[in-house]
Amino acid sequence: MAVIVEGNTLDTSLDGMRAKNPNPTTSAYIQNSVYTVIRRYYELDSLLTRLMARPLRSRDRVIRMLLLAGLNELLFLKTPNYAVVDESVSACADLDRGWAKGLVNGILRSTIRNPPCENSSTAEPELRWNHSGWLVSAISQDWPEFTEQIFAANNTHPPFIVRVNQARTTRECYLELLANCGISARAVQYAPLGVHVLTPCPVEALPGFSDGLLSVQDEAAQLAAPLLNCAPTDRVLDACAAPGGKATHLLEMNPDLDLTAIDISTQRLKDIEENLSRLGLHCRVRRIDANQLKEERPRRTFERILLDAPCSGLGVIRRHPDIKLHRTPDDLPRAAAQQLQLIKSLWPLLVPGGELLYATCSLMRVENDAVIAAFLETQNNSAEIREITENWGRATTFGRQILPGDHNMDGFYYARIAKRSVSNSP
Ligand SMILES: C[S@@+](CC[C@H](N)C(=O)[O-])C[C@H]1O[C@@H](n2cnc3c(N)ncnc32)[C@H](O)[C@@H]1O
Repeated sequence: MAVIVEGNTLDTSLDGMRAKNPNPTTSAYIQNSVYTVIRRYYELDSLLTRLMARPLRSRDRVIRMLLLAGLNELLFLKTPNYAVVDESVSACADLDRGWAKGLVNGILRSTIRNPPCENSSTAEPELRWNHSGWLVSAISQDWPEFTEQIFAANNTHPPFIVRVNQARTTRECYLELLANCGISARAVQYAPLGVHVLTPCPVEALPGFSDGLLSVQDEAAQLAAPLLNCAPTDRVLDACAAPGGKATHLLEMNPDLDLTAIDISTQRLKDIEENLSRLGLHCRVRRIDANQLKEERPRRTFERILLDAPCSGLGVIRRHPDIKLHRTPDDLPRAAAQQLQLIKSLWPLLVPGGELLYATCSLMRVENDAVIAAFLETQNNSAEIREITENWGRATTFGRQILPGDHNMDGFYYARIAKRSVSNSP
């Protein structure tokens, strides 16, 4: 109800559920069930519509949610049939909808008798890919050769990837520590500090978590800090820093870095502070709107700026499947306008010879290459693109794109923009 009907994020809704239900086994069960319903929402919702003789009144939508959960249990979680039927029917009374017992019983039993066919390649794209129609069109238009890979990756359970804190240990030592604790793990391919933890467990249960030996971060996001290529004495700005995944990585690479981490969200700034303290790192942390920084601190300039911009998040659907339900077509141009504004606001703070790294966890061209193209148009030759010559992802006109599922990574985009020194200008 919280995610599908009320439009809240999955993260917030699950936090609310955990606060009410501290039993970890039940919480984990609910979490798994909810994630699967949302990953397979379009398919389950269409099946339910076919099974119901007439739609429910809007005030009884909770029964529709109960049925989605029940169908998901029967078809995808392989919960024993009798348990699904008994528990779903008795939940009607708990939800003050005793009248719905017959309806719920009938729909679940008829599904057991006549299970639906597997989703075939001839099904409508929305059902085949479990994404809304507009999203299927938008992604297919941008990446026609990679649609199968992208939609399949978006619907999978993501890998559990952590970054080892190089200020405290090495990846080899940490892998050994995990092995000694009976936790199976392996080094990832491209990020030099990334570890794929294969044994499912909460992050707090990993050895050394509270002592700051590691942070949770997808491999694609771990590629940002090295791309910034900071010298030890550089003044660096992380302009959209919360919760601090990339800022803490920069500091682990160089604990004395002169780093300023800003974010517009007071709530999310607390997460930066918490992460810095757990990892034993320090930097300047401020609540400032990046678009106002020039006005508020006119004399501050930086050799490096990281702009990990707010975006649609369409590259991280496998981690946040509610994004599929909540994004609308209007969100893309809105995000692009905000991203362009942020680059323009930050550009004057970069010293000549300095570099801005633009990053998004999106795969949409309108938020990536198109934003960079629009920015370059506003510049009178003061900006030049630095090619990213890495062996992950694929080169785009201005940057490098990792698509969801490439080398088992989240979708991410990076572009490096350098400010010409006066003597370099034509
Ligand atoms: C993609 S997240 C950043 C993730 C972060 N770099 C990390 O690695 O953990 C984008 C952040 O931009 C922040 N943000 C959005 N608009 C902003 C603005 N105008 N000024 C500063 N921060 C902003 C959001 O609050 C959000 O925390």
